[in-house]
Parts: sequence; C-alpha cells; structure tokens
Amino acid sequence: MKLLIMGPPGAGKGTQAEMLVKELNITHVSTGDMFRAAIKEGTEMGKKAKEYMDKGELVPDDVVVGMVRDRLQKPDCVKGFLLDGFPRTLAQAQALDDTLQTMGIQLDAVINIAVPRDKLMARLTGRRVCRGCGASYHILFNPPRVEGKCNSCGGELYQRSDDNEEAVANRLDVYEAQTQPLIDYYAGKGLLKNINGDQEIKKVLEDILACLN
Ligand code: AP5
Ligand code: ZN
Repeated sequence: MKLLIMGPPGAGKGTQAEMLVKELNITHVSTGDMFRAAIKEGTEMGKKAKEYMDKGELVPDDVVVGMVRDRLQKPDCVKGFLLDGFPRTLAQAQALDDTLQTMGIQLDAVINIAVPRDKLMARLTGRRVCRGCGASYHILFNPPRVEGKCNSCGGELYQRSDDNEEAVANRLDVYEAQTQPLIDYYAGKGLLKNINGDQEIKKVLEDILACLN
C-alpha cells in the first residue's frame, strides 16, 4: 500500500505511523525524522534544516522534494510506504504527483487525522521522544512504563527543541496557512480518509485500519 498521513503538528501522525507500518508491512518515510537524523549526523543539510525547524518554519521546498524523491526510490519502498509530514505545501504535493507518475505508481489513500487546535499545544509540550528508536510518548496521555525510558528499546527520552510554546504556536499557524489547503487537494482526487484523532490512541488506529479495508 502507498499511503500518506496528514494532520496538524501533534495530531498523532508519528504515533499512528509507527503502528501502521508494522501492521501493514510497509516503510515509514517521515521527513521530520529524516531531518532530525541529518541534524544528529551534523550534515550541511541538517544544519540548514535546524534553523527553520527550531523556529517552527518549513524547510524550503526544493530541499525537501529532492530528499523525498531519492528516498522513495530506495528498495525498501517497493513493498509500500507511508509518507508522514510530506507534502506540506501545494508545490510539494505537485512535485510528489510528478515523482509518483514517473515511477508509475499511485497513492491508495490519504489519511487525514483531525484534532481541535486547543488540544495540540498540550500534546506537543508534554511530548517526549526516544533517542534510540524515535518512539513518541506523552508525560500524561501516554507515559512510558519507567519514567524517562523507552518501553521498546530502553532508550533515553528527550524533549524536541521545537516542542516549546513559541515554536509550537508558529507550527500551528504555518500548518493552517500552508498545509491545511492540501485537504481539499486530496479530497478532489477522491483519496481523502478523514479520521477523528481526538480519541484514544488505540481507537484512532482501529478507525484508520477500518477505513483502509
Ligand atoms: P515533523 O517532525 O513532521 O513534525 P510535525 O508535523 O510538527 O508533527 P509532530 O511530529 O510534531 O506531530 P505528530 O502528528 O507526529 O504527533 P505525535 O504522534 O508525535 O516536522 C518537524 C519540522 O520539520 C517542521 O516544523 C519543519 O520545520 C520540518 N519539516 C518536516 N517535513 C517538512 C516538509 N515536508 N516541508 C518542510 N519542512 C518540513 O503525537 C504528539 C504527542 O501527542 C505525543 O506526545 C503523543 O504521545 C501524543 N498523542 C498522540 N496521539 C494521541 C491521542 N490519540 N491522544 C492523546 N495523546 C496523543
Ligand atoms: Zn526507543
């Protein structure tokens, strides 16, 4: 299956993606994770991306589009993929259409997770992420079994540098201005599956799997 998962910052894209790729045996392609990996490795691209990310701004389209085009051509994407965090602008969506057309593949569905804006700030400022495997936790809504440690790999949990109130507020504004219009774009193509993300994590997963069957 070739899928996209969309939704505002904090909607639960990463949380659901982690479970969905296991369930469907497809590859998780997260542009946010790819940038964070580049920052950790200290590459030039990572240094440039960090400046935008820490402010809650989007990394320029040309950087993201080239990175995703290369990633989708790797062998592990042949079995299927779940794109998370891309596209985020109309230009990125059009570039993705071109890439997929050249590769001779079509998207099966676009999952849109909706959560009211007033819930997102608390989700993001309380988020903790595993340094080892990237799994997301929440200090109140999804705490790890042992404080500060990942359930799956035992890795240390940390707070993302863009999960402070100022950067989150900007990310939410950027989402509304630049990414929300893509909901209509994919609805127009008949691909959109709207999911209520303001429910328990397990229930959200059930609803996604049900709409894909
Ligand atoms: P990215 O990493 O994609 O961040 P984001 O879109 O802001 O999304 P998040 O990862 O913050 O949220 P999520 O929906 O995955 O939520 P999660 O599952 O963790 O991008 C970061 C930055 O990179 C961007 O700002 C930009 O600068 C750059 N970038 C990336 N892609 C780009 C692109 N295409 N173009 C340009 N720039 C790009 O959940 C959040 C929290 O809520 C967690 O604590 C979780 O435990 C909790 N939670 C999850 N589900 C539930 C639930 N159902 N109930 C209660 N709590 C829940
Ligand atoms: Zn972990």
